[in-house]
Amino acid sequence: PAEAVPQAPEDPLFGLMRAYKADTSPDKVDLGIGAYRDDNAKPWVLPVVKKVRIPFFFAFSEGTGTCERWRNCQTWKGDRNGAVRNSALNPAMVAEEILRNDPERNHEYLPIAGLAEFTSRASELLLGVSSAPAAEKRVASVQTISGTGAVHLGALFLAKFYKLNGANRTVYLSNPTWANHNQIFTNVGIPIATYPYFDKATKGLDFEGMKRALAEAPERSIILLHACAHNPTGVDPTPEQWREIAEIMKAKKHFPFFDTAYQGFASGDLDRDAGSIRHFIEQGFELVIAQSFAKNFGLYGERAGCFHYVASPAADAAETTTRVASQLAILQRSEISNPPIYGAKIASIALNDKALFAEWQENLRTMSGRIIDMRKGLRAKLEELATPGTWNHITDQIGMFSFTGLTEDQVARIRSEFHIYMTKNGRISMAGLNTRNVEYVAKAIDAVVRG
Ligand code: LMR
Repeated sequence: PAEAVPQAPEDPLFGLMRAYKADTSPDKVDLGIGAYRDDNAKPWVLPVVKKVRIPFFFAFSEGTGTCERWRNCQTWKGDRNGAVRNSALNPAMVAEEILRNDPERNHEYLPIAGLAEFTSRASELLLGVSSAPAAEKRVASVQTISGTGAVHLGALFLAKFYKLNGANRTVYLSNPTWANHNQIFTNVGIPIATYPYFDKATKGLDFEGMKRALAEAPERSIILLHACAHNPTGVDPTPEQWREIAEIMKAKKHFPFFDTAYQGFASGDLDRDAGSIRHFIEQGFELVIAQSFAKNFGLYGERAGCFHYVASPAADAAETTTRVASQLAILQRSEISNPPIYGAKIASIALNDKALFAEWQENLRTMSGRIIDMRKGLRAKLEELATPGTWNHITDQIGMFSFTGLTEDQVARIRSEFHIYMTKNGRISMAGLNTRNVEYVAKAIDAVVRG
C-alpha cells in the first residue's frame, strides 16, 4: 500500500527548528517556534514548576525524624494522615522528585476524561470561580494532549455531531491563523473557510472585514476564535469589539470554538485574558474551548491541555452536558484511551495550591514583562535606525508573537545573511529576543527592509 503514499512536505515550523539547530553560526537567533526563552535564550523551567511539592503526608510514612532524602528540608514531624502540615516543614521539591516519590504516581491509568482536579481548575481558570455554567453543571471537561489535542477532539466531536443535512458545517478560521488549525480540521473532514483578520496597512485588526465575513457566513457556522494573544499576528479585538463580534455571532447563531493557548501572556492577568470567553458565556452561547498549558506553564513537551464543552443555559442543559461528555469519552478512548499524567499533575498541584498559584501568576508576569521589554527594545532600535516604515505595531501587538510585516523574500534573506530564523509569514516569537541580540536583529531587519 505504501506505493500510493506521496511524499509530504516537512512541517514548516518544526523544519525551521531543525534548520536553526543545524546552523553553526554563533550569531544565530531563533525567532521561530512560540516557546518562551529567558534573557540567555534558554528555555525557562518556571520556578513554580520546580517548586511544586507533594503534600506532606504523601512524602513520609510515620513518626518523627530527619529527612535526608528531601532537598531543602531540615526536620520533619508528622503522621501519614498529614496531621502536621506546616508548610515551613514541607520540603520544597523539584518536579522530578515528585515524579519519583509521589506514591500516587504509580503509572496507573488516569480516567478517560483525565485528572479531575486538573480539569476542574482548568475550567475555573477560563470561566471564573463559581461560574454559572459550573454551578448549573453545564460544563464537560476532558484532559487532552495539550492544545492541539483539544482542538482535534473538538473538531472530531463537531465532525460527528454538528451537521446540516448530513454534511459537516464549515469552520471559519481567521486569516491568518495558527497553521495547524487548517490541517486538524481538514483531517476530520470539516470544510474550511476564512474570515479577514489582519489589516496589512495598519498591521492591526481588520475589524470591518471580520464583521462582514461573520455576517455573511451561513447561519450556524463554526467560528474559530483565538481567546487572546492571537497567533500569529499578536492582534486582539478590544473588549468593545468582542462585544460586537458576539452580537453578530448570536444573530447568525454561529458556534464559537475558542482556542486559548496564551492565557496570562496577553495582559499578564489571567482573568482579563479570559474576558472574551467569559463574555460569550454571559451571552448564553453554547461553545467549546481548547486550552493549552504548554506556554503559560512552560510544559511544552508534557502535553497538558483540556477541552471544554459549555452548554447554553436551559432547563435540560445539565442533561445535554452529560450526553456530550459520554460522547467525548468514546472519542477520547478510541484516540488516546486516556491522557498522560505528568504535566497535568504538575499544573494541577500549582493550580490548586493558593501560594503556588500566586507564584505562578508572578512567573507569568515575569514572562510577559520580559516580552514587553523586548517589544519596546526592538521598536526603539528600529526607530533609532530610521528603518523605513512604521514600527509602532511591534509594541501595539501583544502576546508571544509579532507580525513584523517582513515579506517572504526579506524573511529568506534575513535567514541566509544573518542566521535569524522566523516563519515565512514574517512572524517572530518575541521571546527569542534578548538584551544581547535585539540590536543585532534590529540591524538585520533594517538591512533587509532597505533591500
Ligand atoms: C507556535 O505557533 O509556534 C506554537 O504554537 C508551536 C506549535 O505547536 O505550532
